[in-house]
Amino acid sequence: MKITVTRTQRPKPKPEDENKLGFARTFSDHMFVVEHEAERGWFDPRIVPYQKIALDPASPVFHYAQEIFEGAKAYALDNGEIGLFRIRDNALRMNRSADRMCMPAIDVDLQVEAINRLVDLDRDWVPTSEGTSLYLRPTMIADGTSLGAHTATRFIYFIICSPTGTYYQQGMKPIRIRIETRHVRAVKGGVGRAKTGGNYAASFKASYAARQEGFNEVLWLDGREQKYVQEVGAMNMMFVIDGKIVTSELGDTILPGITRDSVLALAKEKGLEVVEDRVAVDYLFDAYDKGLLTEAFGTGTAAVISPVGELAWNERTITINDFAIGPVSMMFYEELSCIQRQRCPDTHGWTTIVPHYQA
Ligand code: PLP
Ligand code: COI
Repeated sequence: MKITVTRTQRPKPKPEDENKLGFARTFSDHMFVVEHEAERGWFDPRIVPYQKIALDPASPVFHYAQEIFEGAKAYALDNGEIGLFRIRDNALRMNRSADRMCMPAIDVDLQVEAINRLVDLDRDWVPTSEGTSLYLRPTMIADGTSLGAHTATRFIYFIICSPTGTYYQQGMKPIRIRIETRHVRAVKGGVGRAKTGGNYAASFKASYAARQEGFNEVLWLDGREQKYVQEVGAMNMMFVIDGKIVTSELGDTILPGITRDSVLALAKEKGLEVVEDRVAVDYLFDAYDKGLLTEAFGTGTAAVISPVGELAWNERTITINDFAIGPVSMMFYEELSCIQRQRCPDTHGWTTIVPHYQA
């Protein structure tokens, strides 16, 4: 399929200070769009100026939240090229989410080409400062004009890009997390594994309440016993216990993070023991009491590696590693950033270079 390109006539001003970007607050000049109808399949792939999308108020996305998305990053490399990190894995996960949400798969090669062409056109939007990147948000929504509660017959897939810095306001500093004991995020057989908007909407009440009390986020527990660690709103969780990297096993209820997978691969290469299992909260607190829980950190595309300095669970609050960034968290942050910026050997072939289509 040929992707047509309509360039903007009115380029927007770029953010002035790359150190004040925050997370995804401004968007680049262009976006990618492709549409789907049952009889036609995907059609009319195009890059157009960044613009509003007009939808019928009866569109199913508004009423039944049939929506999925991805999060990926493009990095400015020292040689002036732009690298995409594990972008095919995002495209593959998009299709797994699509399957769960009864939405059409979209050819992985088309997704990757769309991202490449869009980032190529907006390459001036990729920030270069340390810790910055161009955040990419591929999204699929259900469109149509019927309120029948069943899968839609029209879909729109689009990609928008945002020059981005750190996800948490305070930057790469330890965060405070409350273990959520009232609400649950996902249950076995549900949609926890899919990257679908409703999972996030359903989590806002708890994270809002936690923020009111000075926490950055909540850590979700399993929906059945509220005993086992799941994940945080935008990241998977890892713990350093007795020198081992301990993380929740994948399943129906947590997002299989690409950063999680990368960190586990790096950990194994470093000779660190990795434990992927059910992680009970009382086991964590017990390990803490014995002096064995030395670090905790989250992993995610937006969050990168986010050290956790405090964990609160019911009446108990523990301070991890004196609320300082621990050596293991730091090592993974540096190693991952080094590979993402292609300053260290990319032995896994995780980064692909954005072609120069315009040349
Ligand atoms: N868990 C949730 C709920 C997320 O939204 C994210 C972010 O994408 C992650 C985990 C981390 O996944 P990844 O490393 O692929 O970004
Ligand atoms: C990402 O890390 O890419 C995400 O999608 C998390 C998002 C909720 C900010």
